[in-house]
Amino acid sequence: MLNVGAGAGSYEPPDRWVLAVEPSEVMIDQRLPNAAPVLKATVEQLPLADQTVDAAMAILTLHHWENIEAGLLELVRVVRDRIVILTMDTEKLAELWIVRDYLPELLGQHAARFPSIGRLRQLLPGTNVEVLSVPRDCQDGFMAALWARPDAYLDPAIRAATSPWQTSRRRLSSAPSASYAKTSTQANGNAATTTCSRDKRLTSDCV
Ligand SMILES: C[S@@+](CC[C@H](N)C(=O)[O-])C[C@H]1O[C@@H](n2cnc3c(N)ncnc32)[C@H](O)[C@@H]1O
Repeated sequence: MLNVGAGAGSYEPPDRWVLAVEPSEVMIDQRLPNAAPVLKATVEQLPLADQTVDAAMAILTLHHWENIEAGLLELVRVVRDRIVILTMDTEKLAELWIVRDYLPELLGQHAARFPSIGRLRQLLPGTNVEVLSVPRDCQDGFMAALWARPDAYLDPAIRAATSPWQTSRRRLSSAPSASYAKTSTQANGNAATTTCSRDKRLTSDCV
């Protein structure tokens, strides 16, 4: 199984053979000694022959790619069976209180890098789309995961580890924490993320 944009390897399944692909040495250095072997490469130019892996996963990485279409084409080229992508639905992200009330500019900056679910369906015909709700105690620290923990949005360490904050420091640092707490009680965390699962057995005429 190929894990592209693997980062530190947080979601790599322990019960199957995984090959990670990651371009950033900073991220590669954070991988544990027992993590899957990693190739330093980008998804747009995978150093793999055609049809050499059974499946691929791409978890919250699409929005970092230089060229999403080229990356998806590469996945389709090297994968025999199934491609699973976890990404953000920015229409839902726009409804999240932290974005709607405090960081609307995020939608024009960081979030603009996420392809819409419609665009992904166009690029990967036959794709199944499943909606994942984000629980209030979600263990991950991606931005939408913290919707019920407003104090976390003020934690410099958490901000430093999450890319949206890099474009929005001014508004975050001026927002009062009491307002976060009040607003969070009105929020819900439904459907901030979406999985797109492309089962290559369903169609042969992809991308
Ligand atoms: C938000 S992190 C997600 C890491 C990991 N998938 C996870 O869920 O923990 C996004 C990752 O995509 C990587 N990335 C950026 N551009 C990429 C590209 N063109 N091809 C593959 N990975 C890329 C980044 O270096 C980063 O490690």
